[in-house]
Amino acid sequence: MKAIEWLGDTLRILNQTRLPMETLYRDAKTYEEVAEAIEKMEVRGAPAIGAAAAYGYALGALGYQGEMEVFKEYMEKVQARLASTRPTAVNLFWALRRMEDRLRDLQELDDIGRIRQALVEEADKIADDDRRTNRLIGEHGKSVVPDEANILTHCNAGALATVEYGTALGIIRAAHESGKKIHVYADETRPFLQGARLTTWELIQDNIPVTLIADNMAGYVMQQGKIDLIIVGADRIAANGDTANKIGTYSLAVLAHAHGIPFYVAAPTSTIDLKVSSGQDIPIEERSPQELRELFGVPTSPQEVQVYNPAFDVTPAKYITGIVTEKGIVSSPYSVNLLKIMVRS
Ligand code: MRU
Repeated sequence: MKAIEWLGDTLRILNQTRLPMETLYRDAKTYEEVAEAIEKMEVRGAPAIGAAAAYGYALGALGYQGEMEVFKEYMEKVQARLASTRPTAVNLFWALRRMEDRLRDLQELDDIGRIRQALVEEADKIADDDRRTNRLIGEHGKSVVPDEANILTHCNAGALATVEYGTALGIIRAAHESGKKIHVYADETRPFLQGARLTTWELIQDNIPVTLIADNMAGYVMQQGKIDLIIVGADRIAANGDTANKIGTYSLAVLAHAHGIPFYVAAPTSTIDLKVSSGQDIPIEERSPQELRELFGVPTSPQEVQVYNPAFDVTPAKYITGIVTEKGIVSSPYSVNLLKIMVRS
């Protein structure tokens, strides 16, 4: 199961809008196709979006036919298009900046062949780093998981949301691989159903016991004492620890607090945005009203009904027990400890 795969001159994208009913791929040969796949959420999840955009940037250079004098302006256009796709996950902007920096290093080079090669290599590095990072998140994170645990997760922060292995599901995988007795409750995650369609599908393939619940059942399940621990992913973590993640995460954090259940966020340090001081400044994507008015094209409400469809919410840092990164676990006070972890090599 690979969310994205580089095939030399093509980015193969597993279309997540149709899973698990259909396994469809898009073979993207242009940056515009990659941008469209990110916008339509064929590829989704913060780290996967970042890596896909990096390959999209490289595809921009691969497809360039013009004069070298205007190559730089052209690449700025490529970058702006890819950056315009989804506003919340900071990994997208982080990866594009890394590609831009690599191109700047190559500026004196007039050799388009070498530029193309260097950009593909940089995108490969971003993808490799993500593979390594997720394993480390798993290694650090499994220490917070009891030997027998019922874990609630939201949305999909698994292999499908990353280049490999996953962040929140990476911890669950690592705990399971180390012999811990894990059972997962997966929130359905309306309206896009990442939990129902993707998380359960991933866990079933790995033989990790999983039970699906609708989002509005989480409080009752916690009240029944069925949850030991909550682990979710993140799309952007502000300097004070406030964390944007899939809509519904905030409600879970408040419920966890009310029930005395530990609430962990799992994310690579590329998801930490020190330029944003608090969650209030994180841009929250609003998606099409049709996502709520219908399900797979079948109307589920009057077509003229007004809709509010924010795709993410922000969990205040005070509700977060710890943030598991590839460099270790960060806990409160986040304003101090996130800064420390970012400067640590
Ligand atoms: O809208 P999505 O599906 O891209 O949102 C995904 C999430 O919110 C994930 O929890 C987050 O990106 C972390 S993925 C490792």
